[in-house]
Amino acid sequence: MSRRFLVTSALPYANGAIHLGHMLEHVQTDVWVRFQRLRGNDVLYVCADDTHGTATMMRARQEGRSEETLIGEMNLAHQKDFAGFDVRFDHYGSTHSPKNRELCAQVWAALRAQGRVVEREVSRLFDPEAKVFLADRFVKGTCPRCGTPGQYGDNCESCGSTYAASELKDPVSTLSGARPELRSSPQYFVQIEHFHDFLTEWTQAGGHLQTEVANYVKGHFLGEPLRDWDVSRPAPYFGFEIPDAPGHYWYVWFDAPIGYMAATAEWCERTGGSFDRYWRSDDTEIVHFIGKDIIYFHTLFWPAMLKASGLSLPSRIHVHGFLTVDGEKMSKSRGTFVLASTYLEHLDPAYLRYYLASKLGPGIEDLDLNLEEFTARVNADLVGKVVNLASRSARFVEATGLSERYPDDGGLFEQAAAAGDEIAKAYEACDYARAMRSIMQLADRANEFVDRKEPWKLAKAPERAGELRDACTVILNLYRQLAIYLAPVLPRLATSSAELLAAPLAAWDETKRPAVGSKIGKFQHLLARVDPKKVAALVAAQPSAAAPSPAAAATASRNDEVAAAAGNETDDEAALLAEPLAAECSIDDFAKIDLRVARVVAAEPVPEAKKLIKLSVSLGGEHRRTVFAGIKSAYAPEALVGRLVVVVANLAPRKMKFGVSEGMVIAAGPGEKDIFVLSPDSGAKPGQRVH
Ligand code: MSP
Ligand code: ZN
Repeated sequence: MSRRFLVTSALPYANGAIHLGHMLEHVQTDVWVRFQRLRGNDVLYVCADDTHGTATMMRARQEGRSEETLIGEMNLAHQKDFAGFDVRFDHYGSTHSPKNRELCAQVWAALRAQGRVVEREVSRLFDPEAKVFLADRFVKGTCPRCGTPGQYGDNCESCGSTYAASELKDPVSTLSGARPELRSSPQYFVQIEHFHDFLTEWTQAGGHLQTEVANYVKGHFLGEPLRDWDVSRPAPYFGFEIPDAPGHYWYVWFDAPIGYMAATAEWCERTGGSFDRYWRSDDTEIVHFIGKDIIYFHTLFWPAMLKASGLSLPSRIHVHGFLTVDGEKMSKSRGTFVLASTYLEHLDPAYLRYYLASKLGPGIEDLDLNLEEFTARVNADLVGKVVNLASRSARFVEATGLSERYPDDGGLFEQAAAAGDEIAKAYEACDYARAMRSIMQLADRANEFVDRKEPWKLAKAPERAGELRDACTVILNLYRQLAIYLAPVLPRLATSSAELLAAPLAAWDETKRPAVGSKIGKFQHLLARVDPKKVAALVAAQPSAAAPSPAAAATASRNDEVAAAAGNETDDEAALLAEPLAAECSIDDFAKIDLRVARVVAAEPVPEAKKLIKLSVSLGGEHRRTVFAGIKSAYAPEALVGRLVVVVANLAPRKMKFGVSEGMVIAAGPGEKDIFVLSPDSGAKPGQRVH
């Protein structure tokens, strides 16, 4: 009997670009969706942009445009990136939609009606210039205990004491430089503790969560009373105003998961589907795919909200780990923060889909993208074992087509058909790594057959034409089985293979019956080898083209969510630590500074200096300069060689302890690990003036 699913990926923040970390999640989800469809199940796959919160508001302000324009643009960019990786949604919405507002109001009304919302006065620091309430880390001042100046937020780095940010002496807002005021405002809280027993039951029994996730939730949260959840933010806030609390807005994490429902509802409106069939019925299995950083929201808040509203609960929440690149957390300064769009400029999405699938297990461990392994594995498996089957056989039967009867193959086809159940189980359990291993074992056996038969030799002996046709019939049928098993991961390969074989590859059970007598299309390249030069080009494109500020904002706001999940009273404020602006300067003043594009030709650490790297930069041709840059805490010298930077070329030479610095490399950020060297987009030439 076929099953019905509603499947979601977590809603990406609208204030950042899609990177390969997001792609891990969306590829994982998309593979699962395609697998279920291939099995004949009915699946609706929806997602949306998560648009609300201070981060979006501050960014729009800074860019001098409306939030709507900003999120509209991001939404298109996100959809383009996902489509580029063959992630196919039935609907991709936005949390800033009328439907979402309506559904938020319904959930809110249900919580109110059950008396689960309480109101309390909370005092918070308010920036009178930026006109926003400030999260702790946007406040700087003198430690009230030991008097050390320049301390952030609620703890002192010098004496280690903690206090309320409002106790700081001489506080300054890091957003505007203004002195914050203490303002009291009512906040609305949802009493999650009321749902404690229900949540214990739901998370610990019924198989909704992976065991390790269930244990984590129990160990970290369920052992003590659940804290009231602060779901409102005072104006100004980019979000939905709470209908019965004017001037107050739902916190972004209140409306975000409701966005799953809004996206469903929008799809239903567009296609005439029934919303209740998905959210008010037991015949649909709701499956959420999320990363391990947002477990709290999805396994505690969200089920509680659904429960209170009488809506369907998820059947399964599948949590995955984080993507690291070459063993490191994705980081801009290390050049490992790869945007989806940058990847697509250089490489085929099929490679990444397969590579991720081959490493994605059912658990929540992190997954490393190791670029050498990436190249080797894709070439060995997909090109060397799979596509190779077709390329070593198809052209020999272009004229004759496949044999009319399936020849004796010593049981290979039967074996591969029988392996289908195990492979399906692995997909179902999100153990794609196991599925890929099984598929590659079948490919190995098929290749042994090719090596035994040597069709290219048969092709040279006209009297063995029948044997050749039979051998190719076997090889192409074994290939077809593999292409079907791989179709969830490699949808384009399935399509081009279906064309080549003039046989459908659209259902799992087609692996059980061999294709015979069919014509064979003209052989065309199914998948090219990974070109290591292109991988190198992708690496070289980092981090310059791949480090725009939105990504930073997204990461920062995720950290907030983690902090919020941990129960900290932080906020979702933007990561815009804008210093107060310097005094105005005229265009003539600006023109005095001669900024030039330069290429780093050599870089070495200065062993005696903690912060310095000695750079040799080229300003075009033989024109070299030595520049000492205080960026050692954030960059490895080798990572800098070859990249473009911007230097202040007419800065008076400065004599330093280790030599003369003949210019300055420009960079942003407060220092330490947070230093971001600026780069022109690729195409700029050393020596060009920046104006
Ligand atoms: N907007 C929230 C989710 C709201 S869902 C109601 C959010 N957005 S996010 O853009 O920061 O992340 C979206 C998803 O991508 C999350 O599931 C997150 O775990 C995942 N990932 C973000 N960076 C990732 C990696 N480096 N690796 C793997 N997944 C990552 O959280
Ligand atoms: Zn102190």
